[in-house]
This record gives sequence, C-alpha cells and structure tokens, in this order.
Amino acid sequence: MDPRIGIFDSGIGGLTIAAAIRQALPAERLLYFGDNAHVPYGERTAGEIIAFSTAITEALLAKGCRSIVVACNTASSAALNALRAQFPHVPFVGMEPAVKPAVEHTRTGVVGVLATRATVESKALADVVERFAHGVEVIRQACPGLAAHIDAGHLDEPEVEVLLRNWIEPMLERNIDALVLGCTHYPLVRPLIEKIAGPGVRVIEPAAAIARRLGQLLHQHGLAAPPGAQGGLACWTSGEPGRFGPVLEQLGLDAGSVRKGWWQEDGSLKL
Ligand code: DGL
Repeated sequence: MDPRIGIFDSGIGGLTIAAAIRQALPAERLLYFGDNAHVPYGERTAGEIIAFSTAITEALLAKGCRSIVVACNTASSAALNALRAQFPHVPFVGMEPAVKPAVEHTRTGVVGVLATRATVESKALADVVERFAHGVEVIRQACPGLAAHIDAGHLDEPEVEVLLRNWIEPMLERNIDALVLGCTHYPLVRPLIEKIAGPGVRVIEPAAAIARRLGQLLHQHGLAAPPGAQGGLACWTSGEPGRFGPVLEQLGLDAGSVRKGWWQEDGSLKL
C-alpha cells in the first residue's frame, strides 16, 4: 500500500486519532508510526521532541506521505511550529487540547484538562486557554506516568485507577463539569476516567474534530483520495510490534502485521 497520509505519536496513543480518521475518511491510505522506543515524550525536553518529530516527518515523507498528522499533543505543543517552518510545503494537522468545546459546555465555569507534563507547561496550551477560556477557570493537571502505563498496556491496573483518582477527585471538589483529554493516549482509558468523573462531567476528546480538519485540509490542497478508493492503515513502530495487537483490536482497526522501524546512529529513522 502506498501511503498518502503519515500519522505519528510517541506510541500507541495516536491510534485513537487514526481510528477517527479511518472512520471519517475511509478512502485514505494511512501510515501510522508509533515511536514506542522513546515513549513517553511528555517527560522529555522540547529539543528532543523536535529532533524526533523532524526525523519521523522525514521518514514519513520518504515513504510517500503527502500530509502529516501529529497525533500527539506533546509533539504538537513542542514541535509543530518547527515542523511547519522546516517543511513549508507539507500540510500538517496537529493536536490542540479541546478547551473550546469544554468552555462552550460548562455551566459551573470550571473545566479540567488532563495532559502530559510537557503539554501542561507548554506555551501552546497557555495560548489555547488565553484564546478560548473567556473567564472560565481551566484547571490544568499534569499526569506523569499515565501515558507510559497506557503504552505498556496497563489499562485496567488498580495503579492506573489510583493515579487517575488522585488527579481527578481534586478537580471534582472544585466543581468541574467538563474534562478535556489533552493526550491522545488517554482515550484508551476513557471508561475508567468516566467512571471516576461521574455522570455530571462531560469527557471531551478532539479525535473526530481532527479527522474533520484533516478532510478539509486535504481538499484545500487537492490531496484527497477519490471517493470510493481503497483506503487502509499500515502501522510501524520503533518498539515492540506485538504491543499494537490489543489496541488495534480495542479500536476496531485492521492494520495487518505491524512493522518495525529503526532509529539510526545519525538520528534519522529508517522505515
Ligand atoms: N500521546 C501523547 C500526547 O498526546 C504523548 C504521551 C507521551 O509520550 O508522553 O501527548
């Protein structure tokens, strides 16, 4: 399959975005790369994240991709501006925490965001809050360790529930009624998050909006696959390909066998 759209994340989290894209744009041929060898990005420096994201973009373009989805909030916050500057002809779609729909939903005037430490500390998140909060209080909670647990497949472990309770319950005490999942790994534990947050809190993730945005961008650039074309998904990882099976199944994705990509000594990525 010759891929047309490259999608990447630090690990398996971006598959939640790939699933929304498969559903919204079934004619598109997708190549997904999970950098599981380097997960979690959320504990890394901006410099490291930019270097990985640049090398991944080069590898995806070398495979024939014509547009790139940065299906990682952490990489989008740290590297999207640098990527757009370095690859000015490539249409990029990046993640942005869904503060806007949370602000539109809230009646209590208090909303929460769960994200990695790097995203919580990023200027990108501060800018989104500045643009959309309009007097609504936005509680930003870093969740160190959560993406790594999820990437390791620990979705139902009691330890993950304890971590989530420690982060979400203080927000409930402050009366949030919307909770934004600001990391693409977190929708994989959405049922647990919903159980802890309770029925009075709307849990918001932007996957469907990202897929819509990609569809618009492809049309604008004349890159959309013809309707009825045979789409598909191929997956690559710098980690252990066997890890993908359960997640692909959970998301109802059919990707065939997952292939291994290798980081090279010069910092480039070979797919
Ligand atoms: N899935 C990622 C995100 O959306 C990154 C998690 C991580 O590697 O720390 O932020």
